[in-house]
Order: sequence, then structure tokens, then C-alpha cells
Amino acid sequence: MIKPECIIEIEALHTRFGNHVVHRDVNLCVYRGEILTLIGGSGSGKTTLLRQMLGLEEPVQGSVKIFGSSRNDADFNLQRRNIRRRSGVLFQQGALFSALTVFDNVALPLRELHTLSEDTIRDLVMTKLNMVAIGSEHANKMPAALSGGMIKRVALARALALDPELLFLDEPTAGLDPELSESFVELILTLRSEMDLTIVMVTHDLDTLVALSDRIAVLADQQVIATGTLDEICRIQHPFISSFFKSIRHKLDQNNNSEPTWKTAPMPS
Ligand SMILES: Nc1ncnc2c1ncn2[C@@H]1O[C@H](COP(=O)(O)OP(=O)(O)O)[C@@H](O)[C@H]1O
Ligand SMILES: [Mg+2]
Repeated sequence: MIKPECIIEIEALHTRFGNHVVHRDVNLCVYRGEILTLIGGSGSGKTTLLRQMLGLEEPVQGSVKIFGSSRNDADFNLQRRNIRRRSGVLFQQGALFSALTVFDNVALPLRELHTLSEDTIRDLVMTKLNMVAIGSEHANKMPAALSGGMIKRVALARALALDPELLFLDEPTAGLDPELSESFVELILTLRSEMDLTIVMVTHDLDTLVALSDRIAVLADQQVIATGTLDEICRIQHPFISSFFKSIRHKLDQNNNSEPTWKTAPMPS
């Protein structure tokens, strides 16, 4: 069998803020084309790990390779631009710049290239807004005039502005009601098949996790204690995993009193 390509490879990573150890010997590989979901308790270092993958933060120790480049490379500062160019991010907080219109928010990464004409930028922005089902009538609105679901969509359009190969989603459906979450999940699935994306996502939301994840990585005890399919992860005996899936189980039981469908659904191989 051919070994899948790791688009991100993390080895022996340590993170510390003062005396506070966040990561201790974290190892993780993200395969090209997969949707990998990172789960872990609040403050377990999920967002920090995403920022380290993107080169926005430096670990105390260890190596983070993305598209084959790491900080240890002599020309990493040059490569960093390239990494940013090939990655899109939907951050947990501060999804949009409040002082910019919808249009200008999405145009921002395109303008930063300093290579495109305003006509080209206009076409690209409108295409991306169309992809996330935001009508052109909203292009000149300010973020404050949008609903939570629309803000997430516009932020996603901005993350996709440069046609990234890698997309980072930090709690993409947090704060959305179930219907909006569901349509956001549908959108991600459509975009993934259209754009050949690799996605690294953080979520606490079971429906989002089940609908999107090819694999799950569990951050607990300052380490990635397990990676695998939902089915594989559910079988692991660990206090965090049990409590994470118990609360979910409880939620499912409350909702429909039936077996969760993912218990019986075939897992992606
Ligand atoms: N820049 C920073 N300075 C000090 N502590 C930080 C910094 N960034 C994150 N932390 C701490 O590191 C831990 C992990 O944070 P974070 O990655 O945001 O967790 P998560 O996303 O899993 O909730 C938290 O305890 C947080 O307070
Ligand atoms: Mg976080």
C-alpha cells in the first residue's frame, strides 16, 4: 500500500507559556485530502496547535513541517509567505474585520498579493461570495449588519479567496443554531469536493464532527493521545474520550431516543 502523503507533519512538539506546559511531545500527521478533526478540552491547546501549523506561533521545541517546509529551513521566512498563500483560515474569534465591508474583507488577501487588477479582484470576490451562497446585494454591507451564519460564510469566502490547498477551521459551527450548522457543514462538504481541500478542524459539535471527520485526533494530557476514525476513537478507554462522547450520547438520546447513526454507519477506510 502507498503511504499517504503528510501535508503537515508534527514531531516531538513542546509548547510552554511561562511555567504552563500546554503540549508535551505532540506528534501528528495530516494526510493530503483528509478532514482531520482535533478534539480536546477547553485550554488543551487546540488553537495554539493550529497557529503553530500555520507558522504564526513557534513551539518551544520540536518540528512542524507544512508542505515539506519547517522553521529549521534556512529560507523559512521566504517559504512562510508561500505557506500563507496556500492556506486559508477561519479563526474561532474575530472572523471578519468590522471596519471593512463584506467585499473588502474577502478582497483583502487578494489585494495583499499586489498583483491583481481591481477588475480581477472584483470577479474573484463575487465568485467566492457566490460559492458560499452570499448574494451580491450583501457585498457592500458591514459585518455588523450580518447574521452569525452569514458572518461565518463571508469569513469562509475570505479563507478561500486564494484557492488554498489547506483549510483550517477553528470551531466553525460554534454559536450557530442547528439548522445553520447543518447548512455550513453541507457547504464545507461541497467545497471540499470542488476544491480538493485538506481540512484541519477544531470542533466540540458532534453533528459537525460526525458529518465531516475522516479522522479524529484527541488532545489530552498535553499530548495527542490517539488518532483514528470516529469508530476507533470511541472504543478507546480514556476519561476525556469517555466524557466527550458520553455528553454527545446523552444529547443524541435526548434528541431522538434512538441509536446514534454513526454507531452503525460504515467508517471511511
Ligand atoms: N499567547 C499566550 N500566552 C500565554 N498563554 C497562552 C497563550 N496562548 C494560549 N495560552 C494558553 O495556552 C492554553 C491553550 O490555549 P488554546 O490553544 O487557546 O486552547 P484551546 O483552543 O484548546 O481552548 C490555555 O491555557 C491558554 O490560556
Ligand atoms: Mg481554541
